[in-house]
Amino acid sequence: MQVLFVTAEAYPLAKTGGLADVSRALPVALRRLGVDVRLLMPAYPRAYLRIENPKIVAQIGPALGVDDATLIAGTLPSANLPVYLVDSPRLFRRNGGLYQNETGAQWPDNPLRFAFLAHVGREIAMGRLKIDFQPDVVHANDWHAGLLPLYLSLENGPRPATVFTTHNMAFQGNFPAEWRERLGVPGALFSAGGVEFYGQISFLKAGLRYADRVTTVSPTYAREILTPEFGCGMDGVLGERGEDFSGILNGIDEMLWNPATDPVLPRCYRETDISGKRACKTALQTELGLAVRPETPVFGFVSRLTEQKMADVVLEVLPWLIEHDAQFVAVGEGEPKMEVAFDQARDLYSGKVAVIVGYDEPLAHRLQAGSDILLAPARFEPCGLTQLYALRYGSLPVVRRTGGLADTVVDATATTIADRSATGFVFDEPTADDLIVALNRALSLYREPLIWRRLQLQAMAQDFSWTASAAQYTALYSATSGLPVDLGTEKESTPAAAQQTTRQAAS
Ligand code: ADP
Ligand code: GLC
Repeated sequence: MQVLFVTAEAYPLAKTGGLADVSRALPVALRRLGVDVRLLMPAYPRAYLRIENPKIVAQIGPALGVDDATLIAGTLPSANLPVYLVDSPRLFRRNGGLYQNETGAQWPDNPLRFAFLAHVGREIAMGRLKIDFQPDVVHANDWHAGLLPLYLSLENGPRPATVFTTHNMAFQGNFPAEWRERLGVPGALFSAGGVEFYGQISFLKAGLRYADRVTTVSPTYAREILTPEFGCGMDGVLGERGEDFSGILNGIDEMLWNPATDPVLPRCYRETDISGKRACKTALQTELGLAVRPETPVFGFVSRLTEQKMADVVLEVLPWLIEHDAQFVAVGEGEPKMEVAFDQARDLYSGKVAVIVGYDEPLAHRLQAGSDILLAPARFEPCGLTQLYALRYGSLPVVRRTGGLADTVVDATATTIADRSATGFVFDEPTADDLIVALNRALSLYREPLIWRRLQLQAMAQDFSWTASAAQYTALYSATSGLPVDLGTEKESTPAAAQQTTRQAAS
């Protein structure tokens, strides 16, 4: 089975969040199961510099007004994962962020940049680039790749099956209707039953409507986004997908996130001997200029500084944490107002609060290892990976009961402590009061070292590897494409079944 996995970011070529982690770890896990998965993403300058063994494999003919593009093939560093980069100097070779310029403004041509990514996905899918790869399934991720299922649904001949995964319904890629023609979207599809969303053209809606199957990244979020509260206006669209929509829980890359082997930690540790974690804590306190006090609880926060992540509420509870003799360490970037507020908190509580505004991957690892408790609250959370990394690193997560957080952390209560299932602390309302109740519970247990140690070991023993979820994706690919799950069998030509499914979905 051959699968083209289309994404806007993949670690370590380009990363702004969890999508990049998943876009590496899931394909790697699928390859272990025998699926020939290959990535397709833009050739941002850093991606181009980091990819291994790059070579040009195809010229991409002019389309959507873009006439300077080539396809580069290479491999993802230390992953044995084939990657195709869409190299259009005009669209992707620029300084600044993946989606924004240096001042934080969205690139004005984002609709074209990502429509072109989808266009190249279509050309590969249809075998028109004459490369040595003919996918049976195209797996498009997030709004950036949302037009790809739509483009493929317009093809007349046989075509691969399509799966679309939404990693976050709040990011929709909605653009002025004037873009429609330029992007090659037929006028007939610009309606409420198509891709029109409040007068705009919505890339997310295109993915949700035209893919053969739709998934999201946890079972609870899959239920939540069928409701107006979490659906960001798309709950009706999703509801119409019925059985074709499901939630598959994310996993973690156990090679990159493993305290027993993590090369950026000052000392490694494992469940059988977690003494190295104390050394990591001391080193973190030293590195960040905090008072080096082994007994003081360190609360960590590795996050985008946004309302989704309740960063505003984290700031609200900081004075409470400091009053209760805790330390707080954060690494994050996000909304400018929040960045300023976090900086101010550091100045106000120097020696007790350390804030690094910015993006620092190794520090994120050291912070997970050196903290005792990880804050991962959220107003909504499709899956969340930082709480999973925290569990692996024996830092007990404090999470809100929503989305993937609810699916992955077991609240420490008298019962769950007794039956040894507890792994963290869970609260319900997105308020400072509710968060403080959970923090208070965490602090009380922290003061009981024997119980705390047991909770840490339970957390570290949780299996959030990709194995089970990758098998679910394989089953989904198989059901969608009509190819048997038996991955050893010969590749067949594209089945008609997939086409029919799309026709039904599109009609
Ligand atoms: P989201 O994708 O919604 O931001 P996730 O929890 O799924 O949330 O993934 C966040 C990823 O980004 C994790 O790998 C986390 O370690 C990383 N991360 C977030 N902020 C930073 C930062 N400032 N520096 C380094 N890594 C960060
Ligand atoms: C999004 C979500 C996050 C999820 C990640 C990877 O960024 O906000 O919850 O873990 O995608 O699927």
